[in-house]
Amino acid sequence: MIVLGIETSCDETAASVVSGKKILSNVVFSQIDVHKEYGGVVPELASRKHIECISQVIDLASKEAGVALSHLQGIGVTRGPGLIGSLLVGIGAAKAMALGLNIPITGVNHLHGHLFAVFLENEGIEFPFMGLVVSGGHTSLYLVRNFFDIERVGKTRDDAAGEAFDKVAKLLGLGYPGGVAIEGLVQDSDSDGLRLPQALLEKDNFDFSFSGLKTAVLRQVENLFGRKSATGRPGSFYPICAENMDTDQGIGIKKIAAAFQDSVVQVLAKKAVNAAKYYNCKQLVICGGVAANRALREKTISLACSARVQVLFPSFGLCTDNAAMIAVRAEDLLSAGFVDDLSFDAKSRW
Ligand code: KG4
Ligand code: ZN
Repeated sequence: MIVLGIETSCDETAASVVSGKKILSNVVFSQIDVHKEYGGVVPELASRKHIECISQVIDLASKEAGVALSHLQGIGVTRGPGLIGSLLVGIGAAKAMALGLNIPITGVNHLHGHLFAVFLENEGIEFPFMGLVVSGGHTSLYLVRNFFDIERVGKTRDDAAGEAFDKVAKLLGLGYPGGVAIEGLVQDSDSDGLRLPQALLEKDNFDFSFSGLKTAVLRQVENLFGRKSATGRPGSFYPICAENMDTDQGIGIKKIAAAFQDSVVQVLAKKAVNAAKYYNCKQLVICGGVAANRALREKTISLACSARVQVLFPSFGLCTDNAAMIAVRAEDLLSAGFVDDLSFDAKSRW
């Protein structure tokens, strides 16, 4: 089946053609330049940019795949979760194409897309597997029993891990997106003995919490810079621009960033491996934007190796938001008869 996938849940406008779990094209237009001056995604700007780009991105995906639109056999589009205005742009385009081309359409859960991206690059995946989706909006563990029986067994009680990376990077004046900025800064440094909290590490607890860690970072920053109140409220800071990393403050920022990344990595790796063991899964899939983090990859592989669990990560480009993961998921759904009629809506939460 030749399927077009469309993804517009956040700040990437993406389209991809997939057939038989093989990627024929995978086009991603990132809006990072639009949002970086705000230190995070501005929903209204995101939807406007999707509207500007969506047709060209779809055309490019069709051209790069060498598949004319008239040869498409199905369409999958992200239905949620995500920013409602952004989702509606992709869904509108997908419905118009399904109607015009007279082909079936299915609304795809973005998180299931992340989980099943791994099928684009691996053949030996066995059910049940444990999946950790760790992105800017979500940090959840899923027991995947088969293609259509997916149970969430743990989730964050407050911030998502990627959100914590983004907020901490903003606080440290490191730019957006935070995960890439923090990983880049700390690759040749360590926390110099600084230890920050690791929450909810009891063996059979599969929930996450990162807000205490975020507050601990704030306290460390206060120790370094003193209290600078931007709004008169305690604990609120002007963004601190760490221009010179060789100063005492620059070295302090690196140390805090390294300790922060270490805490997040330890918690994610330990919980994911524990969950795989608890639910008797031989394989652990780690996906979503934060799965691009090399320290997380190394830590999880070493813990999983001792627990005799195999860890699978999508390649870097398939960790962050893309439409190939939506197309591959749509291929499974459409082949099994999960076709939506044109009245389906967007779901900001799912
Ligand atoms: O999956 P994704 O592209 O979008 C969502 O669905 O949220 O994930 C984006 C998140 C951002 O919070 C970003 O800071 C984080 O993934 N991220 C990383 C890295 N690359 C992206 N976090 C840690 N290390 C990275 N290398
Ligand atoms: Zn995502």
